[in-house]
Amino acid sequence: MMNRKKVIFDTDPGIDDAMALLFLHKSPQVELVGITTGPGNGTIDVTTRNALYLKERFGISAPVARGAAGPLAGEAPPPAAFVHGQNALGDIPLPERVTTPPHELPAFRFIVETVRRNPGEISIVAVGRMTNLALALREDPEIVGLVEQVVIMGGAFGYHGHSGNVSPVSEANIHGDPLAADEVFAAAWPLTVVGLDVTKQTRMSNAYLRSLADENPKIGPFIWEITRFYEKFHISRGVLDGIYVHDSSAVAFLLDPSLFVTRTGPIRVVMEGIAAGQTIQKADSLNLPHAGWDGRPSHAICTDVDSPRLLALYRRVILGETD
Ligand code: BDR
Ligand code: CA
Repeated sequence: MMNRKKVIFDTDPGIDDAMALLFLHKSPQVELVGITTGPGNGTIDVTTRNALYLKERFGISAPVARGAAGPLAGEAPPPAAFVHGQNALGDIPLPERVTTPPHELPAFRFIVETVRRNPGEISIVAVGRMTNLALALREDPEIVGLVEQVVIMGGAFGYHGHSGNVSPVSEANIHGDPLAADEVFAAAWPLTVVGLDVTKQTRMSNAYLRSLADENPKIGPFIWEITRFYEKFHISRGVLDGIYVHDSSAVAFLLDPSLFVTRTGPIRVVMEGIAAGQTIQKADSLNLPHAGWDGRPSHAICTDVDSPRLLALYRRVILGETD
């Protein structure tokens, strides 16, 4: 038996979040030890209910810890119901309430305690706003030296023409709490950013999604149903060749980093004004001293992805074809 990676999944389910959660749940490389929720694709009530629903429906043993309702500072934008539906799972029928209660700890404290109990062993995959991570860092800055790694879906750096999906220069997860993201990037933990640069390069076509539905009757039809709404959103934006693979790309990085090309350097987030939420990396190769970035830790951003191999990996894991 391989040594499985212990993972905390910080998420705002969310259609692509649910798909990423199932990717983690089905991966033999992963022991999912916790799910922490945040607002984004829905309010905190909606995303926590959805995480608990997914836990119940798919028999996921990891506890769900409820996250902060809002950003570290200021007002967050309202949930993007036009992307994920009113219930954030593509408006498939869902129970109003679930019977499983959330964990007794709030998300940030759950993260701190779990990392402290498993020094050097926890990977955090964060695919929503960075609020819970920033609160965990504020509570216990020493966790930076105690985690195995952090993988984030968020941001955009202009590769392949991808620079923003909320504004011309900002991505939703960063835009929803720019201060939290900047604090997370200021921490010297091993961190990789999987941004729009690569997540918009990989798309799942209807034929691909249909084959999951046909070949895994437990999970596949659910993925098919929740992605109908998501597909309509993509079509409304002129994206006709499938749905973007945002959050599952972060999981793919965790499972097989060789799928990606990276660039290293410190990262900053623009706090306010028309560029609020923009992520800017000063590449380590850039010989240009600048007080805004210098002295901050270097992190990796993904600049390229082998999409066919990523799609093959997702399919193999969902269909249980991995050994
Ligand atoms: C990110 O925003 C959310 O809508 C998705 O779940 C993903 O995490 C993409 O910008
Ligand atoms: Ca998400």
